[in-house]
Amino acid sequence: MNDRTHAGNVSEKKAAAVSAVSLVRDGMVVGIGTGSTAAYAISELGGLVADGLDIVGIPTSYQSEMLALQQKIPVTTLSEYPEIDIVLDGADQIDQNLVAIKGGGAAHAKEKVVAQAAKRVVLMVDEEKMVSRLNHTVPIEVLPYAAAVVDAQVRAIGGIPSLRMAARKDGPVVTDNGNFVIDADFGVIDDPERLNHEINAFVGAIEHGIFLNVDEVHIGAAGGAKILKR
Ligand code: A5P
Repeated sequence: MNDRTHAGNVSEKKAAAVSAVSLVRDGMVVGIGTGSTAAYAISELGGLVADGLDIVGIPTSYQSEMLALQQKIPVTTLSEYPEIDIVLDGADQIDQNLVAIKGGGAAHAKEKVVAQAAKRVVLMVDEEKMVSRLNHTVPIEVLPYAAAVVDAQVRAIGGIPSLRMAARKDGPVVTDNGNFVIDADFGVIDDPERLNHEINAFVGAIEHGIFLNVDEVHIGAAGGAKILKR
């Protein structure tokens, strides 16, 4: 894991993951999110699979695929299972309406595809990620060819774009899909639905990190988790 994944409250992340994993039942197709909180969920799922839980997992990144394989969770593809029963994933920030910003680990494009295919989207977070108004930068995965053009489109709607640079590689972050990420700062986001539509209209952008279809959030706390449902 990189340094990013060590941020946040570990015991709260684990409590959120344990709570969310308790929703998984035999026979389910499970979307497997990315990041440090998802990693705790994968570890928890691995223990249940070792005890006989019968599931298949659809990973959202190389990270979650590697962790799932380490845990001997059977992994499959969306081509084989285009309908997912439940997805368990982390988030970077969530508001009271359960609108989330994701993509701190640059996996949000696949995470969004899996969330779209899922009957139930469950996010797991530590308390500090819950806010009354979103103000996190919005990650936008972009075709490298189009990075400067997307940069201009972000500025045109009032955002401040920043090409995400790699930590242990020279140059920009390259996603699992071979693209770049622009982190767009819009300050406080008063209307995430409108911003979602505006960024969806960008040419050259693959997916952005605003998630509007979250069904429930498990917020880790001492001795358990608080659950918010739509
Ligand atoms: C991956 O790109 C992200 O969407 C993560 O799910 C999100 O950044 C949460 O990560 P942590 O659980 O590591 O905070």
